[in-house]
Amino acid sequence: MSLSELLQQRYSVRAFKPEPVAPQVLEEVFSLAQHAPSNCNVQPWQTYVVSGETKNQLKNTLIAHVMKQQTPEPEFNWKVAYQGIHRERQFGSANALYGAMGIEREDKMKRNMAMLRNWNFFDAPHAVFFAMEKYLDIMGAVDVGIYAQSVALLLQERGIACCMQGALGQFPGPIKEQLGIPEEQGILFGMSIGYEDPQADANKARTDRAELEQAVTFFD
Ligand SMILES: Cc1cc2nc3c(=O)[nH]c(=O)nc-3n(C[C@H](O)[C@H](O)[C@H](O)COP(=O)(O)O)c2cc1C
Repeated sequence: MSLSELLQQRYSVRAFKPEPVAPQVLEEVFSLAQHAPSNCNVQPWQTYVVSGETKNQLKNTLIAHVMKQQTPEPEFNWKVAYQGIHRERQFGSANALYGAMGIEREDKMKRNMAMLRNWNFFDAPHAVFFAMEKYLDIMGAVDVGIYAQSVALLLQERGIACCMQGALGQFPGPIKEQLGIPEEQGILFGMSIGYEDPQADANKARTDRAELEQAVTFFD
């Protein structure tokens, strides 16, 4: 499949089959993603991929932690309150997801339960945490974003689905402790990886995009 087709056909997947991705395939994807560009070639990404028993233990710890620790403690500024058109698009994406899942706008309980699924990695067999040294701030974040999209497209090229998750950077404490991530690194965001469960309602959600003129200005 061409890159154009991959981009047009991609969407976030939030329910997975239990079958793991072969370790050599994961290794190939992350080896190729090393080719991603970065400012001054600093390659700031520090990537942690968890599978198997490590992933299961982390999932249990995280769910318990999130259920009692209501206040997120992100290590980078994820607290932006979207305004105007951004806020509208934020609502649009939430409505697409909850609509596909048959969850009413007022049903806070079901929305919270759906949200909580972020921290069991949507039952994916693998979870990824994208970290970098905290001092790098926005320059590092740009590089890590470019790298993460490279990972996502390489996965998709191999028929493997994913969902990027800012939620996985909201409660870094237990993750860093279990994986031994040094204090000077911060977790920016994460990603769940696996083969899509095509029956799941969550995977029927589709989002739209603004027209080209609203995003890009060409000058001659
Ligand atoms: C940096 C980033 C963080 C995201 N965080 C989450 C998240 O925490 N939970 C979630 O379900 N989706 C998350 N998403 C997925 C977005 O909601 C999704 O990409 C957007 O609504 C567009 O839909 P699409 O990916 O299906 O095209 C994130 C995406 C990105 C790029």
